[in-house]
Amino acid sequence: MKKRIVLIIGGGIAAYKCLDLIRRLKERGIGVRVVLTRAGEQFVTPLSVGALSNEPVFTNLFDLDAEREIGHIRLSREADLIVVAPATADLLAKMAGGHADDLASTVLMATDKPVLVAPAMNPRMWMHPATQRNVRQLEADGIRIIEPRVGEMAERGETGPGRLPEVPELVAAIEEMLAGSPAGAAREGPLAGLHVLVTSGPTHEPIDPVRYIANRSSGKQGHAVAAAAAKAGARVTLVSGPVTIPDPAGVDVVRVQTAAELLEAVTRALPADVGIFAAAVADWRVANAGEQKIKKTAGARAPSLSLVENPDILKTIASGKGPSRPPLVIGFAAETENVTEYAARKLKSKGADWIVANDVSPASGVMGGDANTVHLVARDGVESWPLMSKAEVAARLVARIAEHVAQRREAAQ
Ligand code: C5P
Repeated sequence: MKKRIVLIIGGGIAAYKCLDLIRRLKERGIGVRVVLTRAGEQFVTPLSVGALSNEPVFTNLFDLDAEREIGHIRLSREADLIVVAPATADLLAKMAGGHADDLASTVLMATDKPVLVAPAMNPRMWMHPATQRNVRQLEADGIRIIEPRVGEMAERGETGPGRLPEVPELVAAIEEMLAGSPAGAAREGPLAGLHVLVTSGPTHEPIDPVRYIANRSSGKQGHAVAAAAAKAGARVTLVSGPVTIPDPAGVDVVRVQTAAELLEAVTRALPADVGIFAAAVADWRVANAGEQKIKKTAGARAPSLSLVENPDILKTIASGKGPSRPPLVIGFAAETENVTEYAARKLKSKGADWIVANDVSPASGVMGGDANTVHLVARDGVESWPLMSKAEVAARLVARIAEHVAQRREAAQ
C-alpha cells in the first residue's frame, strides 16, 4: 500500500530543502501532505509546496473548509509517519511542553503515529540548555531526532551544529522509519537496549579555508563496527570524520570535520553503554589557520605552520569519572612496529578497557583496504586474531562485547 507522511515545515532558512525533499519522496511513491507553520510560510509558499506535493497544503487550525474536508485528527492519523523539518527551537519547545495552539502542534499532539524530527537552527540556539533539555524530553517520549549537522550556517561567519541534514539523508531516515526498521522499531539481539557510541574516519584540520591536514583513514573499520553493533540490536551513534563510504544502515550518523568538533559531538552523544573510538583523530591542528586563502607571493618565504595538540578524545572520555564514562571503553591503535607492546602502553595511558591494535605499515595494506589483522589487548592479556575482513573483525568485536555485557549482567544479579 502507498505510504504517506505528513511533513510539518517550520520557519527556518533550511525550509527550502523541503521542496526538494517533497520531490524525492514523491519519486519513491511516498505521498506527502504538508502542514506549514505560520513561520514556515515566511520561507516557502503554500503555492510551491502544493504544486510539488500535488495535495492541499494545510496552514490554519481554524480553516473551516479544510476541517470539513479533512480535520486535524484525520490528518494526523491517516499518515504512516509525521516528519518535522526543519524543526525550530520554538517548535521543539512546544512539542516538549505538549502545546496545541496551531495546526502543526495540534497534529503532533493528536497523532498515534511515529514522529521524526529534524532540528535546524543557529548553533547557539541548538546548544542552549533549554533546547537540549527539550530534545532529551522528546527522545524520552519516543520521538526520533536526526541531529543537525555541523557546518557553515546561513549567517555569515557562523559555524557549528545546526544545519538541516541534506535531502538524501532525510529521505533515508524517512524510508527507514516507514519500513519499520531498527531506528523506528524495538530492536532485538544481544546488544538490544544498549547505546553504543562509535567514532570513525579521519579528521580534517584546516590550514586555511581551502587546505587542510588529513590522514589516510577510510573509516571502513569504524563504520563496519557501527553496522555490526546495530545488527546486534544496539542503538548506535556514529560520529564520523569526512569519509567517502556510505552510512551504515540503522545508525544515527553525526558528521564532523575536526578533532574539536569530534569531541563536542561525542560529549553530546553521551551517555553510552559502550564507547568504541576507531577514528584516526589528527594529533595536531594548525594554531594559526588562515581566515583567508594563504597566497603565494613571488620571492616570499614559504609560510610556516605552527601546530598545537588536539584533544585526545579517547583519553578524555576514558579517564572521565562518573556517569559520563561508558562502562566499556574500547580504543584502536594503528601502529607500524611493536604493535602489541605499544597497544598495551596505550591501554594504560589512555585508561581504556580494551585496545584493538593493528599493523598499518604500508606492506599490510590495512589503510583503505578491506582486510585487517588485529590483536585484542585487554588488562588480562592479548588475543591475536587471524587475517580477516574488516566486517569480520567488526562482527567478532561485537560478539566479544556481547559476551562481556552478558557476564556483567550475570554478575550484577
Ligand atoms: O594515540 P593514538 O592516536 O595512537 O591512539 C589511538 C586511539 O586513540 C584510537 O582509539 C583513536 O580513536 C583515539 N584518539 C582519540 N583522540 C585523539 C587521538 C587518538 O580519540 N586525539
